[in-house]
Amino acid sequence: MNTFSPTLLKWYKANKRSLPFRDTHNAYLIWLSEIIFQQTRISQGLAYYEKFAEQFPTPTSLAAADEDEVLKLWQGLGYYSRARNLHAAAKSMNGKFPTTYEGVRALKGVGDYTAAAICSMAYNMPYAVVDGNVYRVLSRVFGIKTPIDSTDGKKEFAALAQKLLDKEHPGDFNQAIMDFGALICTPQNPQCLGCPFAKKCIARRNKQIDKLPVKEQKTKVSERFFHYIYVEQGGYTWLHKREAGDIWQNLYELPLVETKKSGLLTTKPVWCGRATLFPVGKPVKHVLSHRIIWAQLYKAVLPPDTKVPPEFLRIKKSSLEKYAVSRLVQKLLERI
Ligand code: ADE
Repeated sequence: MNTFSPTLLKWYKANKRSLPFRDTHNAYLIWLSEIIFQQTRISQGLAYYEKFAEQFPTPTSLAAADEDEVLKLWQGLGYYSRARNLHAAAKSMNGKFPTTYEGVRALKGVGDYTAAAICSMAYNMPYAVVDGNVYRVLSRVFGIKTPIDSTDGKKEFAALAQKLLDKEHPGDFNQAIMDFGALICTPQNPQCLGCPFAKKCIARRNKQIDKLPVKEQKTKVSERFFHYIYVEQGGYTWLHKREAGDIWQNLYELPLVETKKSGLLTTKPVWCGRATLFPVGKPVKHVLSHRIIWAQLYKAVLPPDTKVPPEFLRIKKSSLEKYAVSRLVQKLLERI
C-alpha cells in the first residue's frame, strides 16, 4: 500500500508554509509564481512574486507591458530567459490563460515541471511534479541510485512520483513534497529527527543520505574575463543592450571588452585616443550556474564632443537606474 502519500500529506497539513500563491486557484498567478520559483528559493523570490502580481494582475496587463519593463522588475532574480518567456507567453494568451494541460505545456518557458505544477494546483489535474526536491526525497526514502540526470533516471523518478501522487489532492501532494524537500529532506544536514519517514527511509538505514541523489555529470563551469568601462562624458554615460546568443540577453550593460585570459587592460591611468582609462577597484568574481565571470571595472573620461558609436545609448547618469542590468553590473555600478 502507498503509505507515502498520506504520511506526506499529514506532515504538510501541520507544517506547510503559508505562501500567497497557495490561497488562490487563479492559474495565471500560479503560473507566475511557478516561473519565479523554478530556480529560486522561496525566501528570495517572494518579494518578486508580490511585485509582479501587483503590477501585472492579469495576462492582459503583462502582455501590454514593454519587455524592458518586465526585465527591470525581474532585475536581480537571475535566469532572465524566464522573464522574456513569461512576457512572450502572456502575449500569446489573448487575455485568457489556457485551461488544458496541452495548452499550458505549449506556453513558452513551460516544461513538464511547470505544466504539472500549474495544472495540479489550479485545476486539480493528476500530474506529479518532478523537481530537485522530488529527486532528493524519493531517491533517499526509496533508496534509488539511478542517476537523476540520465534518461532512465528521469523516467524512473517521474513514474514513481506519478504512482505516489494523491490523485484527489494533486496540488497539495506536489507542494507537500517540495516543502518537505525544502524544510526537512534538505541537501545538507537533513532534519532526520523530525522526519516522518525516518524509520522507513532506505538511505538513512544504509547511511547513504549524503550519497543520494546520484548525479552522473558534474556541471561544467567555464571562466570568462569581462572588462566593463564606465564612460563619463559630462553628466552622461553609455549603455549597451545585450543581444541574443549569450547570457543576459536584452539586459543593458556598460561598454564591455571580453578577453580570453585573465589580467587587467591597464593597471594605471592610460591615455588612449581621446580618453583616460583607469581601473576602479579590484576584479569581482561572479558565479553563475555554468560560468565564473571575473569582472573588472574601469572608468573612461571622454570629452563632451566625442561621438557615440551606434551600438551604445548615451544616457543621463541619473537615469541609469531605469535600465535593467545584471546583478554583476549593478554591483560594479555601486563603485561609481
Ligand atoms: N517551489 C516552486 N513552487 C513551489 C510550490 N508551489 N511550493 C513549494 N515549493 C515550490
